[in-house]
Amino acid sequence: MSWEVETGRRDGRVSTMSEAFGLIPPSANISTLIAGFRARGLSVKDLVVLQGSHTIGISHCSSFTNRIYNFTGKGDVDPTLDSECIPKLRGKCRSPADQTTVVEMDPGSFKTFDDGYFKLVAKRRALFQSDAAMLDDDETKAYVEKSLTAGSTFLKDFGESMVRMGRIGVLTGQAGEIRKVCYKIN
Ligand code: HEM
Repeated sequence: MSWEVETGRRDGRVSTMSEAFGLIPPSANISTLIAGFRARGLSVKDLVVLQGSHTIGISHCSSFTNRIYNFTGKGDVDPTLDSECIPKLRGKCRSPADQTTVVEMDPGSFKTFDDGYFKLVAKRRALFQSDAAMLDDDETKAYVEKSLTAGSTFLKDFGESMVRMGRIGVLTGQAGEIRKVCYKIN
């Protein structure tokens, strides 16, 4: 899988933590997710395709412990999470207050970019409510199911959606700057 990165993107010179909190949270439901992507010029397909990146990487327990300890404030669990996951995740995230422990998002394959995310979602084993929500819309659900078959187009689609994501919030005129190194200001 690869894609051609569009060059010449003007980026800002300031980053703040509070802006990160303005992003869509992992507790988001399907309508919040769709609206959030649409507001950034991305489609429902881009949403489900880009979520597929959760086949790699790690998460802090604090991003999902509500689902395994206290879902509605009554010490209950999220009924949309596979019940077999609850004791396993509690074994790793030992307390609802845990802020430091990290877990693999696609256990056993968290360094391999593959279709693993869609298998997790279909089995109701993905970590976030925003992942489980991929089964709550006809289009995203159909995409999850297609990705489990030989007809999966995920890797090709991912490159296309990454290019579209790279078009979010490009600055124009004299605002910002074209970075010489993508992850730092000039
Ligand atoms: C509304 C959409 C999204 C939500 C709610 C979301 C949520 C999250 C959360 C909660 C984590 C774990 C953070 C932590 O606890 O350390 C995470 C990690 C990650 N996300 Fe997303 N995400 C979204 C979209 C995306 C997109 C669009 C991409 C890229 C195409 C992406 C790629 C990743 C990767 C690679 C990690 C692992 C980072 C690491 O290993 O350090 N996510 N995401």
